[in-house]
Amino acid sequence: MSHLTVRSPAKLNLFLKVHGRRPDGYHELRTLFERIDLCDELIFQPEASGRIRISCDDPQVPTGRKNLVYQVAEFLQRMTKSPQGIHIRINKRIPVAAGLAGGSSNAAGAIEGLNTFWQLGMSAEQKTEIGARIGSDINFFLKDTSWALGKGRGEQIHPLDMREKLWHVLVVPRVKMYSGEVFTALQAAPLKTEAGRADLKLTKEKDNANILIHSILQKNITRAQALIWNDLEPAILRVRPSLKNVKESLLKAGIAPVTFSGSGPSVFGCVVAEQQAKRLANVLRKRYSRVFAVRTL
Ligand code: C5P
Repeated sequence: MSHLTVRSPAKLNLFLKVHGRRPDGYHELRTLFERIDLCDELIFQPEASGRIRISCDDPQVPTGRKNLVYQVAEFLQRMTKSPQGIHIRINKRIPVAAGLAGGSSNAAGAIEGLNTFWQLGMSAEQKTEIGARIGSDINFFLKDTSWALGKGRGEQIHPLDMREKLWHVLVVPRVKMYSGEVFTALQAAPLKTEAGRADLKLTKEKDNANILIHSILQKNITRAQALIWNDLEPAILRVRPSLKNVKESLLKAGIAPVTFSGSGPSVFGCVVAEQQAKRLANVLRKRYSRVFAVRTL
């Protein structure tokens, strides 16, 4: 095979609840993952030197051992005791360290791509085991699904059989966030309560993702958009207080409610149709340079 191209999409967390800190230091999560049509591209080519070479058109992306794609390739090269080298070119469109899991998605793409390119014949279980070892969000991208519930530290994935697609407006402010920093701040920041959200008052916490899923399945977009939630929000705002202004810009443009994806700084809300998403994205582009109208993939 001379080369192979793999598409590597981003995700949003439409819903994210933290159920406390575990003895291993990670936080126990319940989250609703959504694949979106903002994608990177990975191109696999043989590398005659026998080495692993990563290149990327975005200079912010590390190309050495810090890159999860490198870690996957190194792990698979060792596991298979293969003398084959690989050059993986990453064409980046997903903003880095933004809560959109671009790095994890690239790692999942590397697992799939190398499995094909090196003809490794790995089972789904083997791929999942490698994914969980390398990062919390990777396993979502190893499933062929638009929607999934994530449990544990986010690596336990339960795909949802939903064909529905939603439109979103997504703003990615130019600040980098690292999950570790946000989870540390969570220890100090109280969790936001759901008091005041009348539709949720009588509902047990653990069922809220189910109400959101039910609303999406019923194509009740107005209800679904009102139910997006992220427990990490107070911690994100504690780490970067200026992000409150970004949230307010979206609210002022008429997108409500809005929240962060993952550990931020990406801010998003749901809108009912493509035209509205594109119009509102254009309004926000007057103020922010990284604004996307995105859809479930
Ligand atoms: O697994 P990943 O490398 O994405 O996680 C980065 C950091 O985020 C972890 O080292 C941990 O501090 C924190 N984290 C956490 N609970 C999770 C996921 C991540 O505390 N569920």
